Amino acid sequence: MSLSLPKKIAVVGAGNVGATTAQRLAEKALCQEVVLVDIVEGVPQGKALDIAESGPVYGYDTRVTGSNTYDPVQGADIVVITAGMPRKPGMSRDDLLDANAKIMTSVCTEIKRVAPNAFVIVVSNPLDAMCHVALQVTGFPSNRVIGMAGVLDTARFRTFIAEAVDASVEQVQAFVLGGHGDTMVPLVRYTNVAGIPITELLDQPTIDAIVDRARNGGAEIVKYLKTGSAFYAPSASVVEMIESIVRNKKKILPCSVYLQGQYGVNNLYVGVPAKLGANGLEEVVEITLTDAEKTQLNVSVEDVARNVETLKAMVPA
Ligand code: NAI
Ligand code: 2OP
Repeated sequence: MSLSLPKKIAVVGAGNVGATTAQRLAEKALCQEVVLVDIVEGVPQGKALDIAESGPVYGYDTRVTGSNTYDPVQGADIVVITAGMPRKPGMSRDDLLDANAKIMTSVCTEIKRVAPNAFVIVVSNPLDAMCHVALQVTGFPSNRVIGMAGVLDTARFRTFIAEAVDASVEQVQAFVLGGHGDTMVPLVRYTNVAGIPITELLDQPTIDAIVDRARNGGAEIVKYLKTGSAFYAPSASVVEMIESIVRNKKKILPCSVYLQGQYGVNNLYVGVPAKLGANGLEEVVEITLTDAEKTQLNVSVEDVARNVETLKAMVPA
């Protein structure tokens, strides 16, 4: 077990999620250097410089640099992929499949070349399908290719529960299973506030409304922003995953991971509780599900499988 912090974390895509992730990594001093990469000339350099210049005020020494090439990513310990298109009002995450699969393929080819030992955290949508592209193109073992979605979906669920109960968000324990899409499964039965099941604190119509709002949490923000999607909570979620890996905290977090038999799912990335530590994905935690929960999970799994089938036609094996 190594507790020394990584030298370098690269964030590919210096847009909303990428730049705020870089900022949060620097502010938490989770590595010695953050490298931002983007195809748009000047953007990663400008944002990186701006974040670096916050260091004296905020009190961190993290080196932050930006680049349009992958040379500075050489030897990165962790690479976060946020490159791609975000959705606009009226679009589903799946509408991004074609464009983002091409971007992921080019990004992952470079990562394989310059950072062959890196852990990869995938953020680009549609998330679970993009994890498949990353796994296939990098050829990395699946404990090193993990998708961020469940932490975000769960954070939304927890926020809405805390609001309804009028309690601290910190005391709300919950998680969301399944793919990062409209059929995700917020698990009410495993959700509590300070150990008290939410069914003791909220009536069923309120719980149903919260589940529905969590499922549509991404679209709710897109509707407000109009020109893009959420990024503050997504970047916070990425950083919680990274912190668990670099500090070997072994947090159990809902992440999109490559299932090989767990939950009855084979060779597919799906969101499940996952233990993250120094070896990346260290364990898929299997919990018992009721028949109704299994049925809901299967619907979500089928959605992911459909996207992956579409991908197979586009990305050569
Ligand atoms: P954004 O549009 O602000 O940033 C995307 C950046 O990627 C842009 O700066 C663009 O120039 C860059 N880019 C495009 N092609 C590239 C390439 N080949 N190499 C390097 N950079 C490239 O979008 P935002 O809001 O940062 O979202 C990024 C992605 O993350 C989207 O696909 C979005 O749907 C997804 N997302 C996923 C979440 C999740 O829970 N998994 C949460 C939030 C966003
Ligand atoms: C979200 O859930 C867009 O997937 C992103 O906000």
